[in-house]
Order: sequence, then structure tokens, then C-alpha cells
Amino acid sequence: MITVENNYFKIDTPNTTYLFKVNPLGLLEHIYYGKYIPNEEDYSFLEEMPGFGYGIEKEDASYHFHPNHSSNEVSFRGRGDNRELILEIEKDDDPECEFFYKGYDIINDFSIPGLPNALNKEATLVIHLYDSKKKLEFNLYYSTYKGNDVITKSTSLKNNDNKPITIRRILSSQLDIAKDDFILKTLDGLWAKERYIHAREVGYGVTKIGAQCGFSSSEHNPFILLEEKGTTLNSGDCYGLNLIYSGNHVEYIERSNVHKVRLLNGINDSSFAWLLSENEEFYSPEATLCFSSKGENELTHQYHRFINENIVRGYWQNRDHPVLLNGWEALTFTFNEEKLLKIAKRAKDLGFELFVLDDGWFGKRNGEKSSLGDWFPNLEKLPEGIKGLSKKVHDLGLLFGLWYEPEMISKDSDLFRKHPEFVLRHPDYEPLTMRFQYMLDLANPTVVDYLIETLSKSFNEGNLDYVKWDCNRVLSDCYSTYSKLQGETAHRYMLGLYRLLDTLTKRFPKILFESCASGGRRSDLGMLAYMPSFWCSDDTEPYERMKIQEGTLLAYPQSTIGAHVSDSPNKQTLRSSEIEDRFNVAMIGAFGYELDVTELSDIDTLSLIEEIAWYKENRHLLAYGDYYLTSSIFFDNYQSFYIVNPNKEEAIYFLGKKLFEFNSETIFAKVANLDPKETYLFKERRQNFDFYLERKRKLDNRKTEDFETFMANIKEIKPLTSEEQIVTLKGESLMNAGVRLYYEWGSGHLPKRIMTDFGTRVYKITKC
Ligand code: DGJ
Repeated sequence: MITVENNYFKIDTPNTTYLFKVNPLGLLEHIYYGKYIPNEEDYSFLEEMPGFGYGIEKEDASYHFHPNHSSNEVSFRGRGDNRELILEIEKDDDPECEFFYKGYDIINDFSIPGLPNALNKEATLVIHLYDSKKKLEFNLYYSTYKGNDVITKSTSLKNNDNKPITIRRILSSQLDIAKDDFILKTLDGLWAKERYIHAREVGYGVTKIGAQCGFSSSEHNPFILLEEKGTTLNSGDCYGLNLIYSGNHVEYIERSNVHKVRLLNGINDSSFAWLLSENEEFYSPEATLCFSSKGENELTHQYHRFINENIVRGYWQNRDHPVLLNGWEALTFTFNEEKLLKIAKRAKDLGFELFVLDDGWFGKRNGEKSSLGDWFPNLEKLPEGIKGLSKKVHDLGLLFGLWYEPEMISKDSDLFRKHPEFVLRHPDYEPLTMRFQYMLDLANPTVVDYLIETLSKSFNEGNLDYVKWDCNRVLSDCYSTYSKLQGETAHRYMLGLYRLLDTLTKRFPKILFESCASGGRRSDLGMLAYMPSFWCSDDTEPYERMKIQEGTLLAYPQSTIGAHVSDSPNKQTLRSSEIEDRFNVAMIGAFGYELDVTELSDIDTLSLIEEIAWYKENRHLLAYGDYYLTSSIFFDNYQSFYIVNPNKEEAIYFLGKKLFEFNSETIFAKVANLDPKETYLFKERRQNFDFYLERKRKLDNRKTEDFETFMANIKEIKPLTSEEQIVTLKGESLMNAGVRLYYEWGSGHLPKRIMTDFGTRVYKITKC
């Protein structure tokens, strides 16, 4: 709900209010962003008061304004605000500008041209500001979304003069908060350890988070969280910020001596410059903002719903994903059609729904050094091509998907030999490689058109149900002949990529696209606007994944997180784990397996069959239920969370340990958000972890080739199961006290939780 009265602009969501005003000087002052307040005649009880000491002033007879001390809705170079600014330009070597309020509109169909937008806007407030000296129009956009506390903000700059200007910085959102005692949480990492949560006090001066590698990056995700000190999972004030963009991004957090914090985010200005000629308008991507007065979980919850309803779109919105089998971890580049079909046949028997062929199916790709760009089948491995393989997999009753890395080109490829000019490179320097590959210049429209046609042909030929869209390097040699200034190239690349994705996802609306970038380098809202999930990390080892997924879940919903069970010992960590623990961790995401199912022992095969069956019964709840963290793997001794259906009929509780502890602490599995008056069954998922190790060892070594014989054999195996804690209790007891979980294994009496290091458990809660 947007209200404009007496020069006040008030933006309300169900639980929050955002408020600013036009002051008598024609400048915008920020008043408040926080818990909802009702409409008032005037808000002087909240407004900034003059009274700061020594500083630049702007005044007329009745109004004193201290640009460097007050809360400003937007700030510009040279006009007295010496903090970080939302906009910086240059015209004839002159950076000074001053924008005054000119008017506003409320519109219903706002969308940013060429960039991914949040869907289903309730309304958008547009504030028009004007610098009459430089003839520049600066517009601010504020949008609300039905039933959600997330708002989006963006900006645009239009040049109304016949002289061009250079934009040095144009960010999406500025927010001044009149408090300064905060903890900043960010999601940082690198390949195979993406999005660890890091927390620190916001110190004086400027903290800059961001990415300059061309993509949102695995180093620093664009999501940040600012919490008032003392905020917990379920109480306290906090602010979340994200960006609907996949390229270079920046987040400035500035604490100033007047007890204020300024938050800014948008396209990273460090290597950015944009030439804006007469009548041209530049649009920044949408920033998302959310405030919660009920701690982190509520903020996460608002973001999850916003992403499921307003970012993910089309056929796959709110839909269950098929259970996927991808051969990459087991096969890498070494396979042939016979081997693939043997795996696919077994996969069908085990309950899989989608068979994915990863890297290595095209050109002469037998390793990392060749063929990117040659999107036609390798007939030595696949004599009947992708068409033939796809038909055979479909005939088995499975969906079929393929891996592509469309933005890349290998030096050793037909495409490079034919179109060396397609490479993104500087004319004077030898282009840098990463994983032996170059990038295509997506700032060049001819390259984008070429990719649209080549990929469309290949998708049609393969009759594809799924596409894994990989991207295994970052931008370098950021130079394109299509840019007027080279500071434009990285953003022009993104505009090209978004046109490519927009066209293909509209042309193939039913294909399930999964974004990947050496694991989770492009896990952002921009990619999610085209693809309903991203491959979260190449590290699938369950303990590492608990950390990576907890960080990711802070900002992104379960449905968007690609999570697979792979082999043990794990390739990235060499740590061994039970298949049941790997499942318990992977099940919350866009779920699948990455192993050769024909090579599993009988006991693991049996576990896998039961896991898939259990997953299918619970997948909608797991992917789309409301997620609440109850104990953090980063800040506490163990990880626990629950996922509850909004209708309160069922929930799933997860527990994941760090190291095994003798005489372990008592854990109460508390699940809030149930119906206190109803009775619930609390039941542990049965795991085939056998503490009679002798017997397990025998079963571990048994591998039955033929599936029918296996089915006959397992009848007599009757695996020993875990302790299976089962309780019936009132909702109110489960919400207020919780179930005391069995202690961990150790000497003493049963029952016990049979858990080794990094062990996990899952409990299903169902209304009786
Ligand atoms: C990196 C991805 O993260 C992996 O899952 C796999 O697809 C490889 N690329 C293939 O080259």
C-alpha cells in the first residue's frame, strides 16, 4: 500500500513501513524503515531535528538541512553529503549535481527493460528528481508485493541534454538508518565452500562487500543481513538486502559518527562506467529490501515466499521437481551409450524420474581442454547421437536432460576456428584462460543470436526435459567492440546473457533449467528469474553441505537449492559418510543423486530405494514448506531446523551433528507453528544404519547385478534399523517443550541415537 500525503511518501507492507518526505528545500529526507506504523497527519515525531554541530548546511529562512548528518533518501557528489553516494556522474569533467523533487507517479506495470524483474507488483511509486543545470532526470522506483514484506527499489537516469555524460556509479538502493549498533552477516566463500555465514560488528567507516569477477560470485553473495545487536533467530530487528542481478555487485555499509548507518547496493561501480547520450536512459537492477522485527527466521521466511512467488516463474513455479540422476561425479568424461543405458535402466527400477547426461557428450570432449562451443553429439560415444539416446531413455519411462556451457568457447573447437572474433578479449593482450577456456563476448548481439539458434536446435533435437546451464569461469579481458566505454562491457555481457535466457526459457517453457557455475558461483536472484534452481555447490559431502546450505537458506528457499547425494568417500573432502546421512542433508533441495547406481552395494541400494520413496511422499513439503532454523552449525554445537506446512498438518525436523560426543547434550526437538490443539505423531525416518557392524560389513560387500535377483535377495536381508524414536503428543507440547531426543551412542542403556561423527537424523511430524 502506497500513501502520498502532505509531501510524505509512505510504503506499507503487511508488517513494515517505509517513510520519506520532500523537505521545504525540495530534497528527499528519509524518515523511517521498520515495524508497521499507521497513517498520521504528520510524522514530525519521527523526523530528523536540526541541532547537529559543525557541518555543511543548506538553508533558507525557515529550514536548516545538514546533508552530511541527516538521513537522506538519495545523495549526490559535492552537495555536502560526504558519505558513500547512490549516484556519481561526470559531465565535461564536472561531477557536481543536485537533484530536486519534481513529482511522482504510482503505476501498476513497472518493469525494467532488459533486466530480470520481480513479478506481480502490487504498485510502484515513481519519484522524479531533476537537475536543471545538467538536464538530468533521476527516477526512483519503489514496488510492493501482495502479502509480502519484501519491497524492491531501483533507479534510472535520463540525459535530456545533447552532450553525453559518463555515469561512474548508479546504485539501486540507498537506506539511511538512524541507529548504529549492528551486526553484519554476509555469505562468503569460494568454490566448494560457497555461502558460509560470517558475522561481525559494523565498525566505523565503510565496509564494502561485493564481486568484480563479472558474476555474483562464490566469494560474496549479494545477500546481506544487518541485525541490531541482540537479535536472535526469533526476536529483534533486522534488515535484509539482495539484488536481482547476476553480475558485478556491491554493498556499502557505512557507519558514521552521527550514530547512523547507510546501506547501499547495486552494480559494482569499481570497474563501471557508462556513456549516456541524449535521450538515453540507464536502469539499475532491482534491489530487494526486507525488515523483520521478529528476528532472522521471519526475514528468511519473507524472502523465501517472495522468491517462490515473485522471482521463480512459469511452468516450474511451485511445482515438484523430478528425482534426478546425474552421472558426472562417477563417470566424468568416460562413458558410452551402453554404459549410460545400463545406468538409466537401473535408475528407472530404483524410482528415479530424470536421467541427466553431464559434460562430455559433444564435439571431441574427452577432457577439459576442448570442444566448448561445439554443441553437436560425439558419435564415438553416442553412435545414434543425442536423438537416439534421448529416445531410448524416454522409452524407459524417464525424463532426459543434458549439460551445456553455452557462454564458453575452447581454443580447440570448431567454433573458435570459425569465429575467433566471438571471444571476449582485449585487442592488445593474450586472453586469460580458466579451466583452459575462453568466454564468448555476450555484449556482441551477433554472438547472442548465434547461441539462441544453436541451442534451440540442440534442445529440439534432444527432445530435452532438463538443461544444466554451467559456467565454469569468470570474466577477464573485459573488452568488447560493442561498448562505447570499456566500463560498460561487464554489464553489457549481463544484458546479452539475460536476452539469451529470456528467449530460450520462453521458447522452451517446460524445460527444467538448472543454473550452475562451477557449483554455486551464480546463486542469485537474477538467475532464479529464468531458472527455478541453482546447483548449490560441487561439495556434496554432508557436513560441508550443512554449512553451505544453512548459509544459502538464509536468503534462498529450499526449492531453489540443487542438492545431490554423491559417493563416499567424498571427492572434495575425502570424508566418508553413510548414504543415509547424505540423503538427510540433500533431501531439502532440488534433489537427486550423482553416482553410478549400478555400482552400489545391496545395503546402499536398499537405502536409496527407501530414500527416494520417502522423498516422493514428502517432496512438496520439503521444497515449499516454511523453513525455521532452530540451531546453527556456524554458531551452535549442532544444526537443527524444521520445515512446516503452512496448513500445520505436517512438518519435518532435521538434526545434524558436528563430532560425536560422549554423554552428549540433551536436545529437545521443538517445532513451533503447529496447531496447539491437535495431536501429532512424531516419527523418526527409519535409517538403515546398522550398529551390529559385523552384519553391515557383510552386506556392504554384496553387490547384486541383476535387479530382480536383488529384489528377491533383499527380502531375506531385513536390515537392522536405527532406533526409530516414535512419540504421539499434543501440538502444544511439541511447540512449547519439544521431544527429548535419545542420547547419542555411548556406553549405557538403549535406546540411543546411533550416530557417528557428522551424523544426521530426520523426524516426520504428522497430524493424527
Ligand atoms: C562444474 C559443475 O559444477 C559440475 O557439476 C559439473 O557439471 C562440471 N562442471 C562439468 O564440467
